[in-house]
Amino acid sequence: MNYAETSRPSVLLVDDKPANLVALSKALENLDCNIVKVCSGQDALFECLNRKFACVLLDVKMPEMDGFETAKIIKNSKEQASFPIIFITGHSESREDIKKGYELGAIDYITKPINARAIAEKVKIYCELFRRRDAAELADQLCQVNAALKEANRKLSLKNTEILDIFYTISHELMTPVGLINTFSSALSDKLGARPDLDTKEELAYIMDSCQQLYVYITDLLDASHLEKHKVILDQKTFNCGELIEKVLVRFKAKCAAKNIALVSNLPHPNTKVKVDEGRFYQIMTNLVNNALKFTEAGGIEIGARPTRDSKFVSFYVNDTGCGISKEHLTEIFNPFYQVMNNKIGRSSGLGLGLSVVKGLVNLHGGTIFVESELGKGTSFSFTMPICIKP
Ligand SMILES: Nc1ncnc2c1ncn2[C@@H]1O[C@H](COP(=O)(O)OP(=O)(O)OP(=O)(O)O)[C@@H](O)[C@H]1O
Ligand SMILES: [Mg+2]
Repeated sequence: MNYAETSRPSVLLVDDKPANLVALSKALENLDCNIVKVCSGQDALFECLNRKFACVLLDVKMPEMDGFETAKIIKNSKEQASFPIIFITGHSESREDIKKGYELGAIDYITKPINARAIAEKVKIYCELFRRRDAAELADQLCQVNAALKEANRKLSLKNTEILDIFYTISHELMTPVGLINTFSSALSDKLGARPDLDTKEELAYIMDSCQQLYVYITDLLDASHLEKHKVILDQKTFNCGELIEKVLVRFKAKCAAKNIALVSNLPHPNTKVKVDEGRFYQIMTNLVNNALKFTEAGGIEIGARPTRDSKFVSFYVNDTGCGISKEHLTEIFNPFYQVMNNKIGRSSGLGLGLSVVKGLVNLHGGTIFVESELGKGTSFSFTMPICIKP
């Protein structure tokens, strides 16, 4: 239902005689309003509970509940008190009756037999007033909702900053002990290497793996907070794209083989170079390839690079043949902590921070990240990095 329909005024006609109702509605048939007809005071009250009326045309003489009694109840109700009431009287009503009607809140009187033109003119005015009041009320409500939304937004953004500050403090504090565990477990591993009689290699490998995982989570939290506060500074140098990709291949070869996933690369022209922060570039690629591996059960992963059409950037890509992402999630996955719920396994492991950090880092290089995906077929992430034309 659109605004025009909801704001179409309604007029309530109340008369115990059906013939009078027909005559009244005939008189109003050319007006742009909904006509509601009822035959008793009780039915009129019921209708008044359900909708707003531009005006109520109320017969005075009705059995059981007469027009005065009905008007009194309408005027005593907070929601309906503003409904304009026009009494319809017969010649038998006395001056006292008319006075009583005005005291009860009537705004006008019409005497039977009704003059169709005169009544239509009157009702038309009330319909117009109703439309204006309705539009003003709506504008007022919109203003209030807008103000409330702005305030909620302001509070949310403050909360967001507070949360990121808390993340930063916690991650910062956690980094020291995790770093120490990492260093000492490596030292322990070296020492135990000299003791073949002690079979503790597997346990130690678990400790070091878990420590590495913790380290990645903490780094992501720190990076997310740093990126949000524009505190990440890049150290951009010129690198050969082929060499960058080769290094990623080496890093992921064993992991892919262990999961029986093929890993292939597509190298650009040997002289293609980009200007990137090397550490951050690997962080981007590692996140994307880790995701590809995490969400691919069979098939392969392809990584590569090619210059963009305008030759200003090089587009790096990571394609997989994994579970894919449905359309409604594609714009959300770059938001911090967003993870797609999987019907079978629920939420995947991880914090849901990887892609938000990746996007922040790509943008910081002046590049853009893109994603295309088809559910059940696979996903393709690509991002651009500034090309380096100088030899
Ligand atoms: N290659 C992909 N295939 C299918 N879904 C993906 C892929 N990459 C990302 N997603 C979806 O996007 C979500 C967000 O990815 P993101 O890397 O930010 O978080 P994560 O991998 O769940 O956790 P984290 O990276 O923090 O360890 C994932 O949870 C997953 O639902
Ligand atoms: Mg990830």
